[in-house]
Amino acid sequence: MSKYSQYEPGCDPLSPNRNISPITSEIDTEGNLLVGGCKLTSLAEQYGTPLYVLDEATIRAACKSYVNALNTYYPGKSLPLYASKANSSLTISRLVASEGMGLDAVSEGELITALKGGVPSNRIVLHGNNKSEKELKLAYQNGVTIVIDNQHDIEQLSEIVPEDGVPAQLMLRLTPGIECHTHEYIRTGHLDSKFGFDPDQLESVLIQLKQMSWASLNGLHAHIGSQIFEIEPHRDLAGVMADALSLARKIGHSVRDINIGGGLGIKYVQTDDPPSIEEWVKVVSYSMKEACLSRNLELPRLICEPGRSLIANSCVTLYRLGSRKEIPGIRTYLSVDGGMSDNPRPITYQSSYTACLADRPLAQKDEKVTIAGKHCESGDVLLKDILLPSPKSGEILAVFGTGAYNVSMSSNYNRIPRPPAVIVNNGHADLTQRREQPEDLLQYDLIPDRFMEVG
Ligand SMILES: Cc1ncc(COP(=O)(O)O)c(C=O)c1O
Repeated sequence: MSKYSQYEPGCDPLSPNRNISPITSEIDTEGNLLVGGCKLTSLAEQYGTPLYVLDEATIRAACKSYVNALNTYYPGKSLPLYASKANSSLTISRLVASEGMGLDAVSEGELITALKGGVPSNRIVLHGNNKSEKELKLAYQNGVTIVIDNQHDIEQLSEIVPEDGVPAQLMLRLTPGIECHTHEYIRTGHLDSKFGFDPDQLESVLIQLKQMSWASLNGLHAHIGSQIFEIEPHRDLAGVMADALSLARKIGHSVRDINIGGGLGIKYVQTDDPPSIEEWVKVVSYSMKEACLSRNLELPRLICEPGRSLIANSCVTLYRLGSRKEIPGIRTYLSVDGGMSDNPRPITYQSSYTACLADRPLAQKDEKVTIAGKHCESGDVLLKDILLPSPKSGEILAVFGTGAYNVSMSSNYNRIPRPPAVIVNNGHADLTQRREQPEDLLQYDLIPDRFMEVG
């Protein structure tokens, strides 16, 4: 056996977000790719394709990186939350909770998955820019912290919390005036964002909440973007949050938590170069500490909400190669048995991925091909112009980095059932999500009686 990462220049198994493949990826003596001790072609045989394969060791390593780095670099209390929008399931909820993490949910579905998965309710926060009464009630009744996003939340909660009830545990989301994309960021007074309170609304909403006996404001929250490679914006964010903390405490709120959101990027392809989890945590921790010390503020508990960087690189999606179309001088299309319904990121964001053949990942890559999905959409292309070793129909293609925003953004377009997911560790594979069947997709269909009339 040899470690696969040694054949991936620039990858870093010490920080899963910088390692394109799961950190347990190995090559056996026959040249097959294994993840979590399981041969990928055997998993494809046993469970069928497409198949999401999640590596438990990679997820645990990422959780430990966040927990340990916060304990090392932040002198106050801290709590990393898993942003479950990246990939929500009972098993993942249980796994992150067992690593001492909390969880961020944005809907009733994500919330019940976390609660039933065993995440302690005092480690869950509920986000959302248009929470329903049902979602707010569920959160309140379970003692989940609710992130107030707008006046509508305040109005609904003032009706929901009974007069003699325990106060709702709240955070307040602000729009920090920092907007970030992978390679650029801006600072501005007003952001065009549907989330949170603008900086110039902050004082009045803090005063408003202080007058509400049902409200217990424990924290302030901001999130500046996703797949971010820069660290500088987080230094700026610490200053914005410390100013807000100072104002909230002056108004009389005993704010305990500062939640700086998620956003750390990952390595999808060789040219991506995100900071490691440890490096990111080090900078956000020092920045928060410095911002508080320079304002004479008691250190808050530092919360962050990684999604992508915690889960994306733990997963490989397996597809079976099917038809081939060669357009001389233009392109060769190879189609797989999945596509935009199990991974909508390429068609939505033009995202790039890395892939290899599961039975000969190290073979000489001598042919340029484009991997197309099977959906009725010309744009349904998973990987454009990648090099593979003369791939043949029937072979298994392994696409890396598919753990975040794939299954959670999946659809049944063309009435294609969702793939199953297995979690692998030490040579064992366990199903965490069953394969949908075409018949499952009919279960919510109804035919009105009048359509049943003959003729
Ligand atoms: C409020 C909030 N927190 C956390 C995250 C997770 O971000 P990421 O997956 O980039 O870490 C998001 C993602 O959009 C978010 O909106």
